[in-house]
Amino acid sequence: MPKTKHITVEAPSNIAFVKYWGKKGHQHPINPSISMTLKNCVTSCRIDYHESDNFSLNSYQFENKENPDFKDRIEKYLTSILDICPTLKTRALSIKTKNTFPHSAGIASSASAFASIAMAIAEIENANNKTQRASQLARLGSGSAARSIEGPYTLWGLTHNIHNSSDEHAITYNDTHKNFNTVNDTILLIDTAQKSVSSSAGHALMHAHPFKESRIQQANDNLNTILKAMNEGDWEKFGATIENEALTLHAMMMTSNPPAILLAPQTLDALDKIRQFRQDTKQPLYFTIDAGPNIHLIYPQTHAAKIDSFIKTDLAPLCKNGQTITDENGTGAKVIND
Ligand code: DP6
Repeated sequence: MPKTKHITVEAPSNIAFVKYWGKKGHQHPINPSISMTLKNCVTSCRIDYHESDNFSLNSYQFENKENPDFKDRIEKYLTSILDICPTLKTRALSIKTKNTFPHSAGIASSASAFASIAMAIAEIENANNKTQRASQLARLGSGSAARSIEGPYTLWGLTHNIHNSSDEHAITYNDTHKNFNTVNDTILLIDTAQKSVSSSAGHALMHAHPFKESRIQQANDNLNTILKAMNEGDWEKFGATIENEALTLHAMMMTSNPPAILLAPQTLDALDKIRQFRQDTKQPLYFTIDAGPNIHLIYPQTHAAKIDSFIKTDLAPLCKNGQTITDENGTGAKVIND
């Protein structure tokens, strides 16, 4: 019996400020995106592995239970990367993952899951530049996962202003003002039911979208505005731009063929209250939304006292069972020595 080794990795989810929406080629984005890596919303992944004549995924457990659906997706993913990861061709793996946050809570669980698996594989193959390699492998599982390997801010996709940017893997954006040192993300769980449009199906709707070219231009412009605002510490410019990105993502979905309306009535109620609160108090509270009804509230931690009490009294009642999750920016995936 060959000797079994194991590796454990923890990787967080991330929340996009400029949205990746639409693919080209081999899992490359049609526009660059930038996101904040989270700290507490994490997938922990343990891979037990031994040498073998062929690649095999012997078992996949999610939250300590065999999960045939996830096993199928991960097996397809691992098989698809065998040619670029020759080490895996002679390894038999058993994978266990668990999340610190509820599944389908409007947090990108595929980002943290694929980032953790990819980071573990980069360790197993003892890659030269492990973070870059892990980001590339994560991208092949789920595009947004490429942005979860490092933190606190990562940029994925080629953009002319940033010389080492790439469609292959994410890089960190470190040129930020101290106003962006510690940033909160409080997630309003408006609805926790499974999404009616998967993000893969959503990306595909961009192929023939009538506004595709102007969306690509807008995403590039918004990226430049956000990079400059984060560099100068300008929360007003930053906030207006992330809100424009979130609403554009939904506008693109609503004007796709077939259309998708993923915002719930409570989402719109909450957006109204956020705008009013901002107008009344001048507090830097802004929102972003992914492909679902839940809202990510983005604000500097230095303003948390006033903003958190507003969230509790005015916004939490709009959530399913009053549920919210509070997180902040983090540093990315890490290997756990156990
Ligand atoms: C709206 O990364 O989930 O969250 O590459 O098909 O796995 P796949 O898509 P995925 O898309 C994320 C879309 C988004 C915006 C974003 O995170 O940038």
